[in-house]
Amino acid sequence: MRRDHRPGPHEPANHAVALASGLVHNPIVTASALLLEKVHATAEKSLMDDGYAVTRINKGLTEDELIEALKALPEGPVMVGIRSKTHITAKVLDAVPRLDAVGCFCIGTDQVALGHARANGVTVFNAPFSSTRSVAELVMADIVMLARRIFPRNAAAHVGSWEKGATGAHEVRAKTLGIIGYGHIGSQLGILAEAFGMNVQYFDIEKKLPLGNTNSVVSMDALLESSDFVSLHVPDTEMTRNMMTAAEIGKMKKGAYLINLSRGKVVDIDALRIALESKALAGAAVDVYPSEPASNAEPFESPLRGLDNVILTPHIGGSTQEAQANIGLEVAQALDRFRKFGSTMGSVTLPNLDVPAPKVSGSVSRIINLHRNVPGVLSETNRVVAESGVNIVGQSLGTNEDVGLLYVDVPVAADDPKAENLRAGIAALGTSLRTRIEPVG
Ligand code: NAI
Repeated sequence: MRRDHRPGPHEPANHAVALASGLVHNPIVTASALLLEKVHATAEKSLMDDGYAVTRINKGLTEDELIEALKALPEGPVMVGIRSKTHITAKVLDAVPRLDAVGCFCIGTDQVALGHARANGVTVFNAPFSSTRSVAELVMADIVMLARRIFPRNAAAHVGSWEKGATGAHEVRAKTLGIIGYGHIGSQLGILAEAFGMNVQYFDIEKKLPLGNTNSVVSMDALLESSDFVSLHVPDTEMTRNMMTAAEIGKMKKGAYLINLSRGKVVDIDALRIALESKALAGAAVDVYPSEPASNAEPFESPLRGLDNVILTPHIGGSTQEAQANIGLEVAQALDRFRKFGSTMGSVTLPNLDVPAPKVSGSVSRIINLHRNVPGVLSETNRVVAESGVNIVGQSLGTNEDVGLLYVDVPVAADDPKAENLRAGIAALGTSLRTRIEPVG
């Protein structure tokens, strides 16, 4: 089993750039990061400040280009930061075994061979919550634009038609907004909507603490029947797919509005079109679709195109500079915490574990062991620990179906031979996938 190497004073390719740009960073480079696809500059700065050698290539790479670029990084552990274009395939993971952390600077992780990453103890992070505020703000804007029929009148004005008048235009104050899915975005939206004077109610399958004057309702039907605006903020699950069909839309108040900036398959689009054409609903705002163009070069097709008072946006709810900056920081910090403390909070492949190092006088090192989750691992590990004669000041275990993550905290310096012997003993167990040692206190 390889001991994760802590390299000497490398002079990474971009080191001079870092100094020239005035970034102050830890002179002890502990690992290298390859950032692709123009991930936000906040990621690069954060990683460099935390002492990593960062190489940036501002485009997506093919499988072979990626393998070559990763192999060219300085000796030691490597991390890669991607968005949606670069694919982290099984071939890439096998070709570069020292790649143990992947940062997806986006929400989706479909571009990573997750099963293979999990089986090989590779952590994969993403940034599901960095765009929360951006989505909530766009929903609020959609609500006002729909209530004032701004888009049809804007389109008319652009072709020289003057549609002045109050018909069909409303304030949102004192109207009821029903939020389905009161998670990060739903609850943030509730706060913004209350600031506009709306009454806010929500339905969630989990018990959630209502913020401000918001009320939870007992059922989705109760929410649909009593809301002037219904906004969906649920994940894509078996339960939420087609949660708004003709039957549910039919329960909404006549002249209400439906807003979907969550996931495309949550709404039956054909049923929505019928409800809009029949004026059962007064309008809709949709940002996500059952099938979406793969790139800006492809045409956008939807049964909702051309309908009056329907705002169609190209899946941009979370697409703001601020969200990108937040994503850069969120993922970079997750990578740093993984590297330095073995923290896997938010990892989509490894069991989530984040336990602070115990406070003792003197040095503490953490042996971070990823192993196949099979019966007997802990007793074997504890046998090695007992035989090592090293005192243990902390031990934590997290598991998922495939892998276990174990921290063994020892009150000795990371370069102390006793710590290294213990690490090597644990690494030599047949079940161990990756075993490294980090100074944590
Ligand atoms: P979250 O996980 O914080 O909240 C989702 C909430 O929905 C949770 O409270 C959950 O309990 C609830 N829920 C799940 N199933 C439900 C059901 N059947 N009925 C009622 N409630 C249910 O997620 P977050 O961050 O608020 O995101 C919400 C949605 O927005 C996600 O689908 C996400 O993919 C999407 N999104 C869209 C973006 C865009 O660009 N349009 C950008 C960011 C997120």
